[in-house]
Amino acid sequence: MGKSGAVRFGERAEQAIELSRDGVAEISSALREMLADVFTLYLKTKNFHWHMSGRHFRDYHLLLDEQGDQLFAMTDEIAERARKIGGTTLHSISDISRHQRLADNNKDVVSPEDMLGELLGDSRRLTGFLRLTHEICGRHKDVASTSMIEVWIDQTERRTWFLAQIAGRT
Ligand SMILES: [Fe+2]
Repeated sequence: MGKSGAVRFGERAEQAIELSRDGVAEISSALREMLADVFTLYLKTKNFHWHMSGRHFRDYHLLLDEQGDQLFAMTDEIAERARKIGGTTLHSISDISRHQRLADNNKDVVSPEDMLGELLGDSRRLTGFLRLTHEICGRHKDVASTSMIEVWIDQTERRTWFLAQIAGRT
């Protein structure tokens, strides 16, 4: 590589140190919405874990506990990723409700079949949101976020798979 090539490489390396201001804004906004959805799905999963009934109570109760733990573990990582790139994240329950795309379920009684079907639908939508966020991060060359999102997509697809098998839908 000649001298000018070295200079160009140096300039490019300098530019690659930080994400652009637009990139930070767009990625943090996508992460904020995703975090709101993951909190929503976490609480719904725990809600159904607490209110589960029927013949398969033990199996479903335990499965939803495991899925809830996985969702909760995602929340801290999403929020801290936004902070690491210099953005901000959610502050409160009301902030979650302003940004969530997945719906709450406040019904007193929900059948086990409806619980599983609803979680399955939400889980599939979450995969879609994760893929969209992955695209945004990729466009801004935020490789650390894209690699974290790839792991979350795999975990979400595993939860979807389990839910689909027991809900009798594939
Ligand atoms: Fe529990």
